[in-house]
Amino acid sequence: MAKSITVNGQTHQVNLPDDVPLLWVLRDELNMTGTKFGCGVAACGACTVHINGEAVRSCQMTLSDVEGEITTIEGLGTPDMMHKLQQAWVDNQVAQCGYCQSGQIMQAAALLETTPNPSDDDIDEAMAGNLCRCGTYPRIRAAIKDAAGLEG
Ligand code: FES
Ligand code: FES
Repeated sequence: MAKSITVNGQTHQVNLPDDVPLLWVLRDELNMTGTKFGCGVAACGACTVHINGEAVRSCQMTLSDVEGEITTIEGLGTPDMMHKLQQAWVDNQVAQCGYCQSGQIMQAAALLETTPNPSDDDIDEAMAGNLCRCGTYPRIRAAIKDAAGLEG
């Protein structure tokens, strides 16, 4: 039976098995490829999206378990109206290969929703599960502080 899910404000009827991970629904069914597959076992954060504003690993959430509004990197902002984190990412030239970065931004966006003025410890704790093989961590932290209006 088709399941109705809402992604970035748009409702979709998805006719896939219940146990398909949300990550593959987004990428293969809805063609939203900004959300990345890294590990598939909740160990890297590349697949991070929001459900009702909370950061979740979409590789670990089955279609049948999805309850609430999904936001992906495609819905966080637009090229004309970027989210403040996306602007800060550009300003701080955070990305290297870029593969992990949509997950990093989605994780950071969830952090700023609950903690608008994060300390270094808050940032480290919130971002600890998001890995970057290119080692962009110092620029990620700088961009989060920038978006929060904090001094680096
Ligand atoms: S792909 Fe989901 S946490 Fe790595
Ligand atoms: S920018 Fe390359 S993995 Fe993070």
